[in-house]
Amino acid sequence: LNYLTPKSRHEVLDLLLNGLRRLEYRGYDSTGVAIDSPQANDIVMVKRCGKVKVLEDAITEHFSGKEYDEPVMTHVGIAHTRWATHGVPCETNSHPQRSDDENSFVVVHNGIVTNYKDVKTFLEKRGYIFESDTDTEVIAKLVHHLWKKHPGYSFRELVEQVIQQLEGAFAIAIKSKHFPGECVASRRGSPLLVGIKTKTRLSTDHIPILYGKDTEAPKTKEHRPHGQTRELAVLPRTESTSEFMPLEEKEVEYFFASDASAVIEHTNRVIYLEDDDVAAVRDGTLSIHRLKKCLDDPHAREITTLKMEIQQIMKGNYDYFMLKEIFEQPESVVNTMRGRVRFDSKSVVLGGIKDFIPEIKRCRRLMLIGCGTSYHSAVATRQLLEELTELPVMVELASDFLDRNTPIFRDDVCFFISQSGETADSLMALRYCKQRGALIVGITNTVGSSICRESHCGVHINAGPEIGVASTKAYTSQFISLVMFALVMSEDRLSLQQRRLEIIQALYELPDRIRQVLKLDSQVQELAKDLFQHKSLLIMGRGYNFATCLEGALKVKELTYMHSEGIMAGELKHGPLALIDDRMPVMMIVLRDPVYIKCINALQQVTSRKGCPIIICEEGDEETKSYSSRSLEIPRTVDCLQGILTVIPMQLLSYHIAVLRGCDVDCPRNLAKSVTVE
Ligand code: G6P
Repeated sequence: LNYLTPKSRHEVLDLLLNGLRRLEYRGYDSTGVAIDSPQANDIVMVKRCGKVKVLEDAITEHFSGKEYDEPVMTHVGIAHTRWATHGVPCETNSHPQRSDDENSFVVVHNGIVTNYKDVKTFLEKRGYIFESDTDTEVIAKLVHHLWKKHPGYSFRELVEQVIQQLEGAFAIAIKSKHFPGECVASRRGSPLLVGIKTKTRLSTDHIPILYGKDTEAPKTKEHRPHGQTRELAVLPRTESTSEFMPLEEKEVEYFFASDASAVIEHTNRVIYLEDDDVAAVRDGTLSIHRLKKCLDDPHAREITTLKMEIQQIMKGNYDYFMLKEIFEQPESVVNTMRGRVRFDSKSVVLGGIKDFIPEIKRCRRLMLIGCGTSYHSAVATRQLLEELTELPVMVELASDFLDRNTPIFRDDVCFFISQSGETADSLMALRYCKQRGALIVGITNTVGSSICRESHCGVHINAGPEIGVASTKAYTSQFISLVMFALVMSEDRLSLQQRRLEIIQALYELPDRIRQVLKLDSQVQELAKDLFQHKSLLIMGRGYNFATCLEGALKVKELTYMHSEGIMAGELKHGPLALIDDRMPVMMIVLRDPVYIKCINALQQVTSRKGCPIIICEEGDEETKSYSSRSLEIPRTVDCLQGILTVIPMQLLSYHIAVLRGCDVDCPRNLAKSVTVE
């Protein structure tokens, strides 16, 4: 929304498209945009199936008239890139969704409205005809219904009524031809922030919240189609009083977005909205409303200054973000350790959890919970955590953990590991544990994310923005964060000092070791040429390297669409051995660590069935290399950090196979980086 300098509609469209490009990693099934038409009080919408590039071409074609060059002072545009949950990716199911064919109200939405069927039937009874298969369409039509019913209501009040009727998760932005120059946005469960760009310094660092008058809500009864009574409550209206002034800057642009990467090129000043906040922009003012004030609610939302740099979300000289991020790892691991691992005094301090360490030491058990790659970082460090904390450590997939209604106690410490800090499964599991009184520790890469804000304490992994959908540098940084935690927990254990020193020394040498591994790139590329036409790839290992097998197989699946499986080498004889023949591609990780002999046994079981595995072994280990004609040699490090070095060839391998198979490396089909729905 622009009050800063006049902009043409073309410029507004460019701005929206750029924002979408930055958010594309969150979903790229279909896209759409809605802006004000040059004809007074009308909204034009363009939607396309596919990625932002397709929309861009359509926009060039659609908005060709001269009137789109005329500058306007105020303008509201909304845009969306979708990861399909309800309804196949197609133009009609793309967002914005609309209330009627006159585009009275148009909405973009992230999340899932779980009660959409009820709301839909309710609206259908009142004559609304639905055109899409999305849950989102009910939002647009419900605002329209309420607008007709309550002609005196402001746009913001209408949205306030709407969100009371919605169940599930949402971040929404709504535009209306009946309220030109206004935009109303709200969230529950899904992330949403407001970026504020001003010409001069902002006059304040917070914005007061306007609460509704605490009166009893008058209720009107409407009937649900299946006989039940549905309460469509008309809730109290919130009115601004003079003691609360909204943010009123003369020259200002406001941006609503799901994450900061969409706005960082315009401004680094943002407000993270909380669940059930309703933010309204009108006549250049931003106000944030809530229906009711709870006891410990704050009076204001803080304006945060982001440290993110635009270069961090650019590809630079790399063809893909993923490749850039793989090659950033010598630096990103240093950023994770910076100011925390003190190599001179051989000590480790984690500022974000240090006050909670005594409580953590007294706990019953540690639970590590995450999804996908983040879960694998927990698998990778579990053994070291058990060794250095001497506590029981449970490692859980967030979705399964919730399915089981896992018992949680007040003296449990639950770690939530998440790159984005927004993964719905992990967030739901966090809330489940918090309700049961456990201590919540967040391990995230995204400052200001939901997991970060809802944790009692935590560690920012500081890997820098990760844009490639397949996680790489975040994994190694999560890994190191958990290793640092294990070191903190064992600080005063005399018997563990030798072990700690050996690990701290290895952390010091790690960036160089990673650089050495990255030099294997061309060798890995050659291996990819052997493998890319195969249907399947098995990856075997055990002990500290089992997590690499799981993570390597996940990377191969995500990026190349090939079948791949991480196999615990100890389980080989209990089934997977039946898959082995002279054609099945197999990789085996065989390092000189406590499970070396057992790994050699597995290797022999494979070779004696005519399998010819690619071996990942230690530099100069001729004996192990002699089992196969193909191997990758990685430098030596302490056993518990090997997983960082063995996972990098797997990241590179999946990348090269994906390129050879012509796959879109940064945007694998059907996936999204941040899955904010359960
Ligand atoms: C999605 C991504 C995965 C990621 C997982 C967990 O499924 O495609 O790459 O590992 O979410 O994400 P998080 O942000 O919680 O680490």
